[in-house]
Amino acid sequence: MKTLLVTGGAGFIGSNFVRYTRAHHPDVHIIVLDALTYAGNLENIRDLLGEGGAERGAAGESESGASKPPVEFIHGSINDAVLVDALMQRVDAVVHCAAESHNDRAIEEPGIFFETNVMGTLTLLQAAVRYDVRFHHLSTDEVYGDTPLDSDEKFTEMSLYKPSSPYASSKAASDHMVRAWVRTYGLRATISNCSNNFGPYQHIEKFIPRAITNTLAGLSVKLYGDGLAVRDWIHVEDQCSALWAILSEGKVGETYLIGADCAVSNADVLRSLRDVLPDMRVEHVRDRLGADRRYALDATKIRRELGWEPEHTDFRQELQDTVRWYEQHTAWWESKKYGVEAQYARAGQ
Ligand code: NAD
Ligand code: DAU
Repeated sequence: MKTLLVTGGAGFIGSNFVRYTRAHHPDVHIIVLDALTYAGNLENIRDLLGEGGAERGAAGESESGASKPPVEFIHGSINDAVLVDALMQRVDAVVHCAAESHNDRAIEEPGIFFETNVMGTLTLLQAAVRYDVRFHHLSTDEVYGDTPLDSDEKFTEMSLYKPSSPYASSKAASDHMVRAWVRTYGLRATISNCSNNFGPYQHIEKFIPRAITNTLAGLSVKLYGDGLAVRDWIHVEDQCSALWAILSEGKVGETYLIGADCAVSNADVLRSLRDVLPDMRVEHVRDRLGADRRYALDATKIRRELGWEPEHTDFRQELQDTVRWYEQHTAWWESKKYGVEAQYARAGQ
């Protein structure tokens, strides 16, 4: 693989994946296509762009005529069919991370989730078929709905789709599209459904970074409902190594679940964080509409077939390292804190 298109490469997982690929496969030329919505931040990858990397056109030319940087940034939308067509002609593979990704926002404003996650994915799929480009689609364990708290069920690749939220239903729709494009048009695609990621560069609207940064900012942490909901946590670098394994070794047409066997209740996550953030104050707030109770997934297939293993498996240690990252990167998040909390307040928190 010579040239890789990473959509949403200025977001949380996308930027970590660009960093991972630069570190482990420096010979791959990466083009990032990102619309820089509220969730995207060019600072996440600026140090990788090189001179002129952020100024290129779709054809790859730079205004200064400087040589190609290892990572090129294209500011644009996956819904822009002309731009997507031009980029697709330049790449061997796509890792599709661009999405609207936050459940609380989807409840307030579902329309944009279908525009981006469904119609944007459609635009990419049509162009990928046109130029026979290898396509990897990132999806979520939330497409399988939830299980009761007292269940020990784990989702597998064979689990039924039963999304419960507007966000999850938009992701489920896009998964179905990818499978249909494989069967109908022969698209060379794979899908991964991953559990909850945490780590550096995660937007502060999400549970773990919000809890950390609220505490650092002297605000209370908001714990939804009874706090007993369970999420299956994975460090973002482990998701990135799994993505690379699927992209390079995965079988076209297959789905792989990505998870690290770390199902923990939200209240217990806060207990672990309190070890390093003793000033944490927790306030119970109303739960999300239709809130999912428990996710847990079985990642046997990717481990057995692709030999992938997570490495960041000491959850408490990884949480502590994540706290340190937010402590050391206050400039990255401080200016966003007021707006994010004001939006939550408008939604009734
Ligand atoms: P994110 O919200 O942090 O980043 C999304 C990125 O997509 C942003 O940079 C944003 O600017 C960009 N984007 C949005 N609309 C766009 C458009 N129309 N055109 C181009 N770029 C656009 O999301 P994330 O947490 O990094 O999630 C990435 C993918 O992984 C999503 O598909 C998500 O569903 C999936 N996923 C996330 C998690 C998780 O825990 N974060 C877990 C499983 C799956
Ligand atoms: O499971 C994978 C999914 O994980 C991804 O597909 C999504 O893109 C990603 O956002 C994440 O979804 P969740 O809704 O599980 O993540 P979030 O961080 O928003 O919430 C995790 C849990 O914490 C959930 O039970 C709600 C709760 N919560 C959330 C916030 C923001 C709180 O208790 N307090 C909070 O402030």
